[in-house]
Amino acid sequence: MAPLLELRAISKRFANIQALDSVNFDLREGETHALVGENGAGKSTLMKILAGIYNEYEGEYRLNDQRVQLTSPRDALSRGIGMIHQELSVMPELSVAENMFLGRQLTTSFGAVDWRRMNQMAQEELAKIGFEHIDVRAPLGNYSLGTQQVVEVLRVIVSGARILIMDEPTSALSPAEIERLIQLMDTLRKGNRSIIYISHFLEEVMRVADRVTVLRDGRKVDTLDVKQTSVNNLIGLILGHEINATLPAPTGRPDGDTLLDIHNLTADVFREVNLSVHKGEVVGLYGAIGAGHFDLARAVYGLYRFDSGDIRLDGQLFPRGHSARYAIEQGIAYASESRRMSLFMDEAIYRNVMTPHLPRLGFLSPSAATELRAAQPHIAITGVHPPDPYNPVGQLSGGNQQKVAIARWLPYPPKVFIMCEPTRGMDVGAKSEVLGLLRNFRNEGYGVLVVSSEPETILAVSDRIVVMSRGRVVTELANQNLNKDVLLRLL
Ligand SMILES: Nc1ncnc2c1ncn2[C@@H]1O[C@H](COP(=O)(O)OP(=O)(O)OP(=O)(O)O)[C@@H](O)[C@H]1O
Ligand SMILES: [Mg+2]
Repeated sequence: MAPLLELRAISKRFANIQALDSVNFDLREGETHALVGENGAGKSTLMKILAGIYNEYEGEYRLNDQRVQLTSPRDALSRGIGMIHQELSVMPELSVAENMFLGRQLTTSFGAVDWRRMNQMAQEELAKIGFEHIDVRAPLGNYSLGTQQVVEVLRVIVSGARILIMDEPTSALSPAEIERLIQLMDTLRKGNRSIIYISHFLEEVMRVADRVTVLRDGRKVDTLDVKQTSVNNLIGLILGHEINATLPAPTGRPDGDTLLDIHNLTADVFREVNLSVHKGEVVGLYGAIGAGHFDLARAVYGLYRFDSGDIRLDGQLFPRGHSARYAIEQGIAYASESRRMSLFMDEAIYRNVMTPHLPRLGFLSPSAATELRAAQPHIAITGVHPPDPYNPVGQLSGGNQQKVAIARWLPYPPKVFIMCEPTRGMDVGAKSEVLGLLRNFRNEGYGVLVVSSEPETILAVSDRIVVMSRGRVVTELANQNLNKDVLLRLL
């Protein structure tokens, strides 16, 4: 039987980058087909062709055994193909129901917006998947990221999609939220919908997918039945060689001086937090989404108000209500868990690296050449790929954007790096490179605080692990003989 959808010998070029090189891909009715590969392998590009976003490419696109030429995402949707993007595209200030019908509101026979029917349908869709507790009239922003993600999936479904493309839907979700999304995918599959699922979490892929296609450097490596492969086998195919990037075991608590000292810090979402980071130490601050660990990090950086307690850096007490500028001057570097908030996506790489430091360069607008010269070594150290400093950051793959987020602190090295979700959305190779960069800082005597809800990241990089749950520190451990199960149980 011919597949539902088939791509034959698809090639796509962006200026000097061959993003896809003669890739074949097919999707069967009712299957979940995973797409995996390193950052920049071409996964999102291939899916954007499938979803009608890119219309210029070489090769053949076949749907129900007919050659088609999609003209737009709307055209794709009218043929039953919908895409859920890597970055959530919901409107938090609109209601749950409004989000579900975004762009295609129902109207009454008089042409007025039919709120009653939309609210009712939204409630029904949610009830079908066990989300009846959601108030469809409440702003979507009141709900967790996981719920927002589910609403985005439902939006594509109520628009009539039979084929769903999900680009890294779980990278920002908590473990419980991931479970719910996986259940939703299961329900969809039982309803004979076909799903293409992009993820860097290979264990998840093994659980949810029927088949998996591996891309590397824009080429298809293989398509396999999930039953006939393993996580290790997939890693080998993704990297093109056996894994030799195993991370060295972290060492215990160093005798270095205390750099960052947080004492009884209290705000609305965290209470009496005590935490220290020493010279030459990576501390992992671990918690589920909503544990308060990201807000604590923001408080240290001066972006979140706290009510009582002290923050000291190298012995120096921070004044109450300090600004981010003050924190930077004292030697705090900070990267938020959302790269969109840390980086200027439309600006060139070198501008992203230099912008925070322009005041220190002593002039308001140095020439582009001065900036470029100052930025280049830092771009090189972090291994941003492609290494062209003029590329806008928004065109880089997720992993390379994160390298820029690190590079931008290097021109004036801080004392303590606070990095939130440093490896979110990254493949195995990029993950070990970024964590390697953080460990180098530690070896050079900086303090590093990694704030994350991903147990793998915390375990791979930390010397010491501090666990937060519901706004409080619940335990502190040396990172020895720990594993993911232990961490998850501590939450
Ligand atoms: N709009 C664009 N303009 C120029 N180059 C692009 C554009 N989009 C993607 N690229 C390049 O094409 C290649 C493939 O990118 P793509 O986004 O498809 O990778 P990916 O596999 O989805 O990676 P990730 O896992 O990081 O999301 C990369 O080298 C990327 O830098
Ligand atoms: Mg992508």
